[in-house]
Amino acid sequence: MTLSSAPDAAATVQHASRGGVLVVTIDHAPVNAIDGAVRRGLIDAIEAADADASVRAVLIVGAGRNFIAGADIREFGKPAVPPSLPEVCNRIEACGKPVVAAIHGAALGGGLEVALASHYRIAVEGAKLGLPEVQLGLLPGAGGTQRTARLIGARAALSLMLSGRHAGAQEALRLGLVDRVGQSDDVFAEGLAYAHELIATKAAPRRTKHARGLADKEAGAAAIAAARAETQKKSRGLLSPLKIVDCVEAALQLPFDEGLRFERERFVECRESPQRAGLVHAFFAERETQKSPETRVAQPRALNTIGVIGGGTMGAGIAVALLDSGLAVKMIERDEASLERGRAHIEKVYDALIAKERITHETKERALSRFEGATNYDALADADLVIEAVFEDMEVKKAVFAQLDRVCKPGAVLATNTSYLDIDEIAASISRPQDVLGLHFFSPANIMKLLEVVVPPRVLPDVVATGFELAKKLKKVAVRAGVCDGFIGNRMLAVYRAAADQLMEDGASPYQIDRAVRDFGFPMGPYQVIDLAGGDIGWAARKRRAATRDPDARYVRIGDMLCERGWFGQKTGRGYYRYDDGARIGQPDAEVEAIIEAERKRAGVEPRTFSDEQIVRRYLAAMINEGANIVHEGIAQRPLDVDATLMHGFGFPRHRGGPMHYADTVGLANVLADIRAFAKDDPLFWRASPLLVDLVERGADFASLNRTA
Ligand code: 3HC
Ligand code: NAI
Repeated sequence: MTLSSAPDAAATVQHASRGGVLVVTIDHAPVNAIDGAVRRGLIDAIEAADADASVRAVLIVGAGRNFIAGADIREFGKPAVPPSLPEVCNRIEACGKPVVAAIHGAALGGGLEVALASHYRIAVEGAKLGLPEVQLGLLPGAGGTQRTARLIGARAALSLMLSGRHAGAQEALRLGLVDRVGQSDDVFAEGLAYAHELIATKAAPRRTKHARGLADKEAGAAAIAAARAETQKKSRGLLSPLKIVDCVEAALQLPFDEGLRFERERFVECRESPQRAGLVHAFFAERETQKSPETRVAQPRALNTIGVIGGGTMGAGIAVALLDSGLAVKMIERDEASLERGRAHIEKVYDALIAKERITHETKERALSRFEGATNYDALADADLVIEAVFEDMEVKKAVFAQLDRVCKPGAVLATNTSYLDIDEIAASISRPQDVLGLHFFSPANIMKLLEVVVPPRVLPDVVATGFELAKKLKKVAVRAGVCDGFIGNRMLAVYRAAADQLMEDGASPYQIDRAVRDFGFPMGPYQVIDLAGGDIGWAARKRRAATRDPDARYVRIGDMLCERGWFGQKTGRGYYRYDDGARIGQPDAEVEAIIEAERKRAGVEPRTFSDEQIVRRYLAAMINEGANIVHEGIAQRPLDVDATLMHGFGFPRHRGGPMHYADTVGLANVLADIRAFAKDDPLFWRASPLLVDLVERGADFASLNRTA
């Protein structure tokens, strides 16, 4: 027997009676996200259960790999389609027959809220329960803040909702989120058996709104006060975390229905906020970037043994990333001493994690058991993929690739981690250019999420697909980039740093620029980043480019002047900031300000005052304009690839969605007007991107290019 009203509701939520249990199956690929049809279907199912005297219990399950992944994120920002999810959850909770939720895979956000509105819950191993709304700029808006706090207490509920983390089945049992964990992984059989047991024991509906988790008011208030204090410190500038705390306070202080109303109002505020739009854009961008033209048509090659050439900063970090994902690594260095240093680099990373009690000695030993070092390239004869991370020098790299060409098996993928060099030139120097691509990691490579997969013209699609497959194994966000000086990320970095340097020479102090950029939401300002990474890196790149630099282009020498003094940043105790006695946090340096002042005089610049807002506008305009050029030239496939790059490699605040999404929210016409105004000072630097001009003329935005690509 299948009953339902609207046809799409019937298709996505099926219900059928099985011996007195109405089995309600949400079947909405790929992840059973809750859209209007699912909401309607759930209400229909509960109505049917209440109306049918032969139904004695209800079982809600998900088809496919998940229970329910949450509300359908694609509906946010569009007109609301009734019924609302709070209504659905209230209707489930009000059902006159016991309702069981049987959970496998994801029960996240609205999915967990449906389970919490059910009367009994069972999970099987592999289940993931969580309220990750905070990661999308939201709060649980279908009774989640009120029911979770009542069910498991304020402290545990706040910890789940403020982190957005997933709890496994056993933890969910411990927390009291579920009543039991199934013996098998057959979620349907486990759920059905539970429902029959409830019928046999004449169990009545048990409503979470009556749960007693907040009975100890004092403990609840203390948990709320602690969470509020920590959130104020940690979630600077974010809207939803503090509102989550407020909602739990409402759960403690107000009757359930009033608490629900309080929650709904805050949820709607969050849902309508630009932060929600930015974070949802980030969510989809991260998934879209994984799809490239090559992954659509080609299968990846095998990935078991990976070679890494060079055990310096990057080689060691890449090796750790590979080892951490269970791969076997063979590292090649120039000589035994360098190899020993490489191995020591790797050990240092693990030892630091042991010191912080993040991993055990055994984990380190297990990882290192997959590591081998050699000074002879013959060790790479069976490598499936080799990542070169030697000095940034074309001749050194070509020599390494000649060795790889000699020893590697046919079909081995040969990758370079070069930051700037022409990968096509490297590929052309060996007999198998079709197997060569760029895999550009970011430092520290075992931590930074971004991996630029750089695609030179001659590479085969399955080689590119292998790069994306590696990123998946390493849990990195892969972004496809074309070959140019700096690819996507470093090319943009060079331009927005130049904009910052010009602001500095024109009158802003590096400390004001850093502060303005931090206040926008970056974790660090550009000069703090330079001091952390080492000023010498950029200095070397500037020297390399000196010969090809447009002689008419404005060049700010302040960074070079600091480097000439040996002030490379933290590692030398001085850079833009002073790091006295090994301090990690720098202090403004009056001598640096004097150098800047003298340089302004030499360059004939009359210093101006900039507000923080003016600083951010110039900084962002430079970023957006270069991003547009990069899309225009096809180096990035879509604006969203630029967004993912800046968010995962350069600290662009996620709640602003990346520079291109941010530009859409500001309005492209406004960005273009800014660029044209800045061009009055320096027309060469502030040349509007043809793509930006075209979009403004057509009244279009960057998002339109994401949709059509
Ligand atoms: N809405 C719409 N689409 C969703 C979705 C959602 N909630 N969750 C996942 N998807 C889509 C993805 O975009 C992707 O689409 P694509 O194939 O077209 O690229 C597809 O489902 C598969 O997703 P993943 O690639 O992420 O698959 P995984 O198997 O790696 O992960 C997952 C599955 C753990 C469920 C992960 O997708 C996830 O974390 N989803 C988001 C969960 C979430 O944030 N839920 C809360 C939503 S807000 C809410 O519920 C508000 C409520 O309180 C009122
Ligand atoms: P590094 O100087 O720390 O390490 C280079 C290592 O390569 C040294 O250990 C050296 O002994 C080894 N080496 C040199 N020639 C070799 C050869 N012929 N055979 C074997 N080993 C050899 O340099 P780093 O910073 O690790 O950079 C490596 C590459 O990664 C460069 O191309 C760089 O542009 C790129 N890169 C660097 C980033 C960074 O932040 N440091 C970020 C992303 C890419």
